Amino acid sequence: MTPWWKKAVIYQIYPKSFQDSNGDGIGDIPGIISRLEYLEKLGIDAIWLSPVYLSPGIDNGYDISDYQKIDPQYGTMKDMDNLIKEAKKHHIRIVMDLVVNHTSDQHPWFVEAKKSQDNPYRDFYIWRDPVDGHEPNDLKSAFSGSAWKFDEKTGQYYLHFFADQQPDLNWKNPELRNKVYDMMNYWIDKGISGFRMDVIELIGKDPDQKIRENGPMLHPYLKEMNEHTFANKDMMTVGETWNATPKIAEEYSDPARHELSMVFQFENQALDQEPGKEKWDVRPLDLGELKKVLIKWQTEIDFNHAWNSLFWENHDIPRVISRWGNDQEYRVQCAKMFAIILHLMRGTPYIYNGEEIGMTNCPVKSIDEVEDIESINMYHERLEQGYKRADLINSINVKGRDNARRPMQWSNEENAGFTSGNPWLKVNPNYQKINVKAALADLDSIFYTYQKLIKLRHENPVVVDGDFELVENTGDSVLAFWRKLGSEKWLIVANLSGDRQRFNLDNDFKEVLISNYEKQDSLKNIILKPYEAFAVKA
Ligand code: GLC
Ligand code: CA
Repeated sequence: MTPWWKKAVIYQIYPKSFQDSNGDGIGDIPGIISRLEYLEKLGIDAIWLSPVYLSPGIDNGYDISDYQKIDPQYGTMKDMDNLIKEAKKHHIRIVMDLVVNHTSDQHPWFVEAKKSQDNPYRDFYIWRDPVDGHEPNDLKSAFSGSAWKFDEKTGQYYLHFFADQQPDLNWKNPELRNKVYDMMNYWIDKGISGFRMDVIELIGKDPDQKIRENGPMLHPYLKEMNEHTFANKDMMTVGETWNATPKIAEEYSDPARHELSMVFQFENQALDQEPGKEKWDVRPLDLGELKKVLIKWQTEIDFNHAWNSLFWENHDIPRVISRWGNDQEYRVQCAKMFAIILHLMRGTPYIYNGEEIGMTNCPVKSIDEVEDIESINMYHERLEQGYKRADLINSINVKGRDNARRPMQWSNEENAGFTSGNPWLKVNPNYQKINVKAALADLDSIFYTYQKLIKLRHENPVVVDGDFELVENTGDSVLAFWRKLGSEKWLIVANLSGDRQRFNLDNDFKEVLISNYEKQDSLKNIILKPYEAFAVKA
């Protein structure tokens, strides 16, 4: 039997920015509950909820100080139980974020571990002696600077691949692993339907060998986790794996290996940065390269022995129409084009909150407007290295994580209907025009394209199980592919560019399934308008 998550569409909620219910300017769990009806109308099957656990909030909840408590800014455990229960009534499952590569430095384990070298919790984290009075080696943190932080009191360094306040857990310790599995079972018993596993590719690390991702123990740990927690449960698991190749994706997701359901891979993320440099070293996207990566992940994994996810956006990456498309005169067509190609590929699609109404990036003028720790640390590090302020602000506007973390735009009322108070991060001023209320009132809006795509997936096995077959020689700017299952044949055609493009295929079709312009009546020698996309049944 096909597992539910192969036919599902998942919706990611960034809780801090979704819906505030009590006027403190911070989204919360009761706010999410109040929007379940909207999500049911969209048609999604599950919510991936970014962290709502107790946290000092250095990295917006990805620094957890208690895995079995809800942060008071988001509500109570009763609210959480209520969310699981209410969502079910709307046929929506809840997938929790699992952040177990590291904890917060306020987690009781770390508070204990710091007390002395022989504290029983010391080995839950990764400690090393100084080498010649310095860091043990030159491993870097993803949030700038060294990955090692010196602890004065006990005279050793601890490892943190993210902020200083996010010490890495020591997965080599079996006692720690068992505590993590117990915690996962606590959540499974509450009736959740899966886990999204934060930077899971790092847990097999070997810092002495400077091995970060894909370490030797990664897959053994995942097998063990599977066996101790979600094995034989009707759950989905998705690993955040920035460095997966198609082969590595198969290692994670081959059902015979009993690890995860699928991965998030990020190969397209490097396409608009200078080769060998960092994400902030931006360069324009080459559409041909984007097309190549999209095709690669449809053709180079064997879907009978692996599974993959499909997504354009999440809370760590910018809005796709602003980044690779057009968020001005062709905003609507462009958003629909990205949706049509993604949702008609093979894999499990994810929608990031606001994507379904075409929310855009939101540029800042100065660092004072930035909340994200990654951007702020990068800014200060690079200023010291002599970079120009204006260039750094430009990088933040192109790639910064706050772009996608702006409050959800619900209506044209004050603060976009997100809060009656002061939002924690300013609302994008374009909410007057771009908001859910306007989208729902316009039958031709981006929202209804998403709704239709979800319905097409739910009702047509060809979308879930059909083979992917590329139409060759369409040029860098046009992506065209077949999905085929038995006698069912669908053709998807998309102009990825803002220019008109020629397209020619000697094929008839019976029916247009979806499109973002007036319907084409032939495939022979046609002109595709800017960002035009459609799917037809042949
Ligand atoms: C993941 C999260 C990101 C977080 C990081 C550290 O990449 O998606 O938001 O900052 O891990 O937990
Ligand atoms: Ca609130």
